[in-house]
Amino acid sequence: MGKFEKVLALAPERIPAHVAIILDGNGRWAEHNHRLRAQGHHAGADNVETITYACMDMGVKYLTVYAFSTENWKRSKDEVSYLMLLLKQYLLKYKKTAIAKKIRVRVIGDLGGLSDDLRALILDVEQATKDLKAFNLTFAINYGGRDELVRAVRRIAGQGIPAKGIPAEEITADTINAALDTAELPDPDLLIRTGGELRISNFLLWQCAYSEFYFTDTFWPDFGEEELEKAILDYAGRERRFGGRKK
Ligand code: IPE
Ligand code: IPE
Ligand code: MG
Repeated sequence: MGKFEKVLALAPERIPAHVAIILDGNGRWAEHNHRLRAQGHHAGADNVETITYACMDMGVKYLTVYAFSTENWKRSKDEVSYLMLLLKQYLLKYKKTAIAKKIRVRVIGDLGGLSDDLRALILDVEQATKDLKAFNLTFAINYGGRDELVRAVRRIAGQGIPAKGIPAEEITADTINAALDTAELPDPDLLIRTGGELRISNFLLWQCAYSEFYFTDTFWPDFGEEELEKAILDYAGRERRFGGRKK
């Protein structure tokens, strides 16, 4: 059978336009394989590239990956510095590939909380890929759904004082959407979490209102193309109702 044959045989509307992934289980993968946690994170970073290309081949348009949460600062100093180093190395290496493959790269999260060099690198990659249209890859870095909402509300409140003025009664869901880090992205159709935990850990709280969830025990570094294909086929078989009646 050809690569991704089952997915490619689906009607296009059955394929999720936006897949979001909570890539969890790097540490446990390392433990199972008698490696260091850092090696787990390294293998996890490599897997982002594999899954990005698989998404592109399957007709997905947007992929958003949760790389570092606002709560992950609670980890040991060593682990946090390794993750930051890995993000820098990855973005640096990824810039060329993204341009070659016409991938637009974005980062969501509170960039203000990152080091100057990482922030500069992020802005550089975003700028260098801003006109590319083959695919949209978004990294959530120092991202928390509640933090994003707090920043959005502050932006909206700030806009209202005093001259520009958004009167309270004119604030709609669109106003909030536009103030979020994800303003340019559609809501995720499919949210995948690897690593066996059944929670969303502060990821895309507003945006996942009607996303389909897919949980798997597979650790992120082991979540390969075939696992992704399985998740997408599972999604394709679901009926989304958005509060309406069963058809
Ligand atoms: C996910 O793997 C990566 C990040 C949160 C940065 P973990 O590091 O959370 O792996 P586990 O959950 O400990 O196995
Ligand atoms: C979620 O994983 C955050 C990321 C994948 C970046 P965690 O490992 O931090 O989540 P919890 O602590 O198990 O909820
Ligand atoms: Mg974890």
